[in-house]
Amino acid sequence: MEKTVTKAITYRRSVRKYIEIPIDSDKVKQCLENAALAPTSSNLQLWEFYHVTEKETLNKLAVACMNQNAAKTAQQMVVIVARRDLWRKHARENVNYLNKVYDKPDLSEKLAKRKKLFLSYYQKLIPFLYTDVLGVLGYLKYLVFQLIGLFRPVYRQTRLSDMRIVAHKSAALAAQNFMISMAAIGYDTCPMEGSDTLRVKKILQISGGAEITMVIACGIRDETGVYGPRFRVPFEQVYHII
Ligand SMILES: Cc1cc2nc3c(=O)[nH]c(=O)nc-3n(C[C@H](O)[C@H](O)[C@H](O)COP(=O)(O)O)c2cc1C
Repeated sequence: MEKTVTKAITYRRSVRKYIEIPIDSDKVKQCLENAALAPTSSNLQLWEFYHVTEKETLNKLAVACMNQNAAKTAQQMVVIVARRDLWRKHARENVNYLNKVYDKPDLSEKLAKRKKLFLSYYQKLIPFLYTDVLGVLGYLKYLVFQLIGLFRPVYRQTRLSDMRIVAHKSAALAAQNFMISMAAIGYDTCPMEGSDTLRVKKILQISGGAEITMVIACGIRDETGVYGPRFRVPFEQVYHII
């Protein structure tokens, strides 16, 4: 039986050593389907999930992950990839979806207005925000918004670096959905940014515009695989009620 959310969150630890028992690829895939249900900026879903089960590729990935124990003993690996470059395609898919959802002859005035607003979001605002030329356009937009921001609230995250963060934020949320889902069924994970991302991309033959958010080792924990009790700074230090 699956653990409750709180139990799964408590159970999840970064596990650095896995037992030599295979895990079920279908179950891991199901956890990745949960990953795809994570909230995502503008619902653009600028992510991809590479589920690695082949031994040879796992060995190559372990080397690209600096031979970390978690990578060397992983039964499978998942690579979460941010695909900022897919914004145009995914905006179009949102438009197609909206056209289908609102394709009713007797659309009320309220719904027609909503449809127009949503379409304008994907056909005008998203292209405006995401279009950039080598980072220059993004920076110009940023300067203009800083000026406007002197007088009213504005969206300020327009530079290329901001847009990369936007994509990685959503991809990281998907990663967390995945890891919690794995914990819920008694499987373990270790997120790793300690990797040579260029090599990881080469091994997986991932296109140029993609960026590795994290590599996640997967398996079932060895009893020595959790390196000590969990440490967190005191909660009161990070919790602010206003
Ligand atoms: C983005 C990210 C990158 C991480 N990279 C690594 C890594 O390369 N190697 C590793 O052993 N652990 C890595 N970790 C795991 C953290 O060290 C771990 O989450 C932290 O120590 C807290 O422990 P816990 O996950 O067991 O609660 C990473 C975690 C995150 C969120």
